[in-house]
Amino acid sequence: MASITLRSATADDRPRIRELLATCFGSRSDPSEHEHAAELFPIERAILAVDGDQIVGHTVDRTMTVTVPGSNTVQACGVSAVGVAPTHRRRGILRQLYTELHRRAEADNLPLTMFTASEGTIYGRFGYGPSTIRHEISIDRRRAEFRPGTPDPGGVRIESLDNAKDHLREVYDRWRRLVPGAQVRPEANWQLWFADPERYRNGASGLFVLTHPDGYVLYRRKWGDNDENTASVTEFCAVTPDAHIALWRVLLSLDLCTKIEGSLTENDPLPYLVTDPRLVKVTDRYDGMWTRVMDVPAALTTRGYRADLDVVVSVVDPFREAGGAFALRVRDGVAECERTDAAPDLELGIDVLGSLYFGAHRARVFAAANRIQAKDATVLRAFDEAFATDRDAELGWFF
Ligand SMILES: CC(C)(COP(=O)(O)OP(=O)(O)OC[C@H]1O[C@@H](n2cnc3c(N)ncnc32)[C@H](O)[C@@H]1OP(=O)(O)O)[C@@H](O)C(=O)NCCC(=O)NCCS
Repeated sequence: MASITLRSATADDRPRIRELLATCFGSRSDPSEHEHAAELFPIERAILAVDGDQIVGHTVDRTMTVTVPGSNTVQACGVSAVGVAPTHRRRGILRQLYTELHRRAEADNLPLTMFTASEGTIYGRFGYGPSTIRHEISIDRRRAEFRPGTPDPGGVRIESLDNAKDHLREVYDRWRRLVPGAQVRPEANWQLWFADPERYRNGASGLFVLTHPDGYVLYRRKWGDNDENTASVTEFCAVTPDAHIALWRVLLSLDLCTKIEGSLTENDPLPYLVTDPRLVKVTDRYDGMWTRVMDVPAALTTRGYRADLDVVVSVVDPFREAGGAFALRVRDGVAECERTDAAPDLELGIDVLGSLYFGAHRARVFAAANRIQAKDATVLRAFDEAFATDRDAELGWFF
């Protein structure tokens, strides 16, 4: 370990960083992605672990504006492209990189750090908890029918990706303001999607686009054996319930298509719109975004709450010193939060607080898993209700 040092990256490091990440993730980026990727995650935000002349570890991040419950936003450190060389695994390099990353996020006064994780077992120890929930679904399209009486709002158009660009940007921006967890989307991320690199397609077609005044869908088609044809939804964005129904009506009308695949949040209404809810078959459940609270009072006073609350919360932080006892008082959705010496009503890990933050996970469920200890059922119920949200949390754009 003595030979490993950390340093900031420069543009000259780019080729070796790409080679490291291709080795770590088993996938080489397309040259058409490089310029956009470099804009999305600027090289000066990269931290390198170096052994002599070798780059053996890498993280990079950008500051993101993220919607929180109550429709405020918070500034968060969004981390990406974390990798340690297979020649240097399990020697504490990831731990070193995260220690430095957290130091920088704290210096920048960012109350949250977040990312999408390659595996579910790595990041709890650093204080991160999964903070969105996605259900992968598969629908036998030929059997799917809407329930009688379901509205048919219409308004959906077929568009080329080229013609739809401004509409996608505009609708996404309205959508992300409503959805906890969704981030402002940088133009470089749009440009990556508009470039539609071959590597993103997994053998399927280029992107098809359906638009509605308050929504859009991006999907791909793929032919398989025995005339099986799948439409894979890569992005579904509906600002209103009408847009949601209208877009699903058209997706379920794709003749020649046998199967529709996509992903939904836990409370997406689609199963309730069709005559056979079992047709919306959940094939997998995954986490999406992971969140760590860097500064408990700053994070908790930025989001809104669904009910009044008076509670002393003890937060246990195994990795940094952000934990302690905090008095949290909510009135009319607005919180005050400060450190206190008072005895706690409730104790939880900072990873659990990260999971509760955007409202995707419920405190009562963590309590049932013995990961929240509450003084009594009344405290737990009030805490659970205050943190709950009316709209499911979602990751806006993947990074
Ligand atoms: C995941 C990865 C970054 C870990 O790097 P590393 O330098 O080997 O990790 P460290 O030695 O610092 O490990 C820190 C802790 O995490 C644990 N850990 C690391 N990788 C783990 C994994 N894949 N699964 C479970 N635990 C893991 C270690 O056992 C260690 O535990 P400890 O706190 O009990 O000592 C590296 O294996 C990698 O690049 N993997 C492929 C790409 C990837 O998955 N990147 C992460 C993207 S989110």
